[in-house]
Amino acid sequence: MHQKSKGTFYITTPIYYVNDVPHIGHAYTTIAADILARFKRLEGYQVFFLTGTDEHGQKVEKAAQERGVDPKSHCDEMVIRFQSLWKRLNISNNDFIRTTEPRHKRVVQKILQDLYDRGEIYQDNYEGWYCVPCERFWTEKDLVNGKCPDCYREVSELSEKNYFFRMSRYQSWLIEHIEKNERSILPPSRRNEILGFLKNPLEDLCISRPKKRLKWGIELPFDTEYVTYVWFDALINYVSGIGYGDDGETFSRFWSEAIHLIGKDILTTHTVYWPTMLKGIGLPPPKTVFAHGWWTIEGKKMSKSLQNVVEPNRLIDTYGVDAVRYFLVREVPFGMDGDFSHAAMVHRINSDLANDLGNLFSRTLHMVLRYFDGIIPAPASCEEIDGRLQKVSDHVLSQLPSFMNDFAFHRALSTIWELIGAANKYVDETAPWSLAKEGNTSRLSTVLYQTMEALRMIALFLAPFMPSTSERMWKELGLESNLWEQNLERDGIWGGLRPGRRIEKPHPLFPRIESRKITGV
Ligand code: MSP
Repeated sequence: MHQKSKGTFYITTPIYYVNDVPHIGHAYTTIAADILARFKRLEGYQVFFLTGTDEHGQKVEKAAQERGVDPKSHCDEMVIRFQSLWKRLNISNNDFIRTTEPRHKRVVQKILQDLYDRGEIYQDNYEGWYCVPCERFWTEKDLVNGKCPDCYREVSELSEKNYFFRMSRYQSWLIEHIEKNERSILPPSRRNEILGFLKNPLEDLCISRPKKRLKWGIELPFDTEYVTYVWFDALINYVSGIGYGDDGETFSRFWSEAIHLIGKDILTTHTVYWPTMLKGIGLPPPKTVFAHGWWTIEGKKMSKSLQNVVEPNRLIDTYGVDAVRYFLVREVPFGMDGDFSHAAMVHRINSDLANDLGNLFSRTLHMVLRYFDGIIPAPASCEEIDGRLQKVSDHVLSQLPSFMNDFAFHRALSTIWELIGAANKYVDETAPWSLAKEGNTSRLSTVLYQTMEALRMIALFLAPFMPSTSERMWKELGLESNLWEQNLERDGIWGGLRPGRRIEKPHPLFPRIESRKITGV
């Protein structure tokens, strides 16, 4: 059955620098975006989910040089690391954009030429300070103790001719836009931060780098001595990735719904540079930019020098993909900083996944196997207590959309866990093993049907968060339909489980982990 689409939904992650292998920070944003994309699909939206890689600029050029390979071969090797990690993490992106692809370069050059032709870009002499690792210009007053205000490293003095985008022109428009649109920047604290930043005069944005300093970039269409500033190039992925300039159809369907998920460190580029660039080319700003917090590792900043960079592949090897997905969005409210520790991870797995969810699933299915030869019983006699799970399930279903719209993944999960808790309690209180002993088949059928139905709902609700666990639950519950063709409104109605189907012996969903077996991963 085909449902009418509820509308369109466009979600993006930052495009990741390929100077290094992916770490937990990259996985975090991508998992969050995937959860939203999957949830919206289940709600009936037409979803476009874009991720990709940021392949130009000094960082990447330097990384390639250090490895003694040319930048493009370096990118070609590194991009595979990202793509294969996303596969392992079950990321359901619709497209993957690389900034070295012709379809992207073409759009960047088109936008540059267009801005240049309309006088939005001009050449000027730049004098000031430059931070090489951040690839950013700073004025004297920006510096903190003579160092870069962002990374606190040495800056070098610079005087050179460059091209500038008239960003300052759009300052009052930008302030008004942010003030009028509460959801333009989320969480609210980040919106305030940017409104505070915009109290100071906005300068024009330097958008070029002379080739004598940096070769690895997109050439300016109007001056071949220069390449494009990497951020100006990168931000454009959000429109080139949905066919701006080429395929008008996809672009016009999705752009007005754009939501960018980013980390808090790249807030200014996304909420100041990007909307003004878009304004310059006559496009509306994204609907929402949501900045999440940063992970520390066992209380410390993650860094190469501390050798504590958490490699997602190793986490998946140790804990399994869904436990990793679950932990990252359950442990810390999205938007806040959080600390990753193996102890916290093991605790979450054992208590929430193995104990609450895993046990409910396994004991319920085993009882259906034992008492009904694996045939899902039809509900029979009904008592007041039997309506309880439906009530909780309806409540969860009514809450999920607003939690998800607020990016409150931890709250969405905790409400789903109310249903898991209620189902465990229902089993404990109705004690099917006693009903079996008493030979009360009618009560036993009802109780096991209700619990099986709760498990169907749980699998459906959890699908965006733990796709492979939900798929397994779906199959082992004897459901033949395709989980990904479900619709929350239509299939979230209680009573959809058909009695009479046969189930097989379930596999444990989440075996308990003994924490002493986990050494530093
Ligand atoms: N290439 C730019 C983004 C361009 S988007 C047009 C970039 N890339 S990055 O690879 O350095 O970082 C990508 C994302 O990883 C950022 O959103 C950043 O916040 C996130 N994280 C990096 N370290 C992180 C943590 N320790 N914790 C959480 N996220 C972190 O910036």
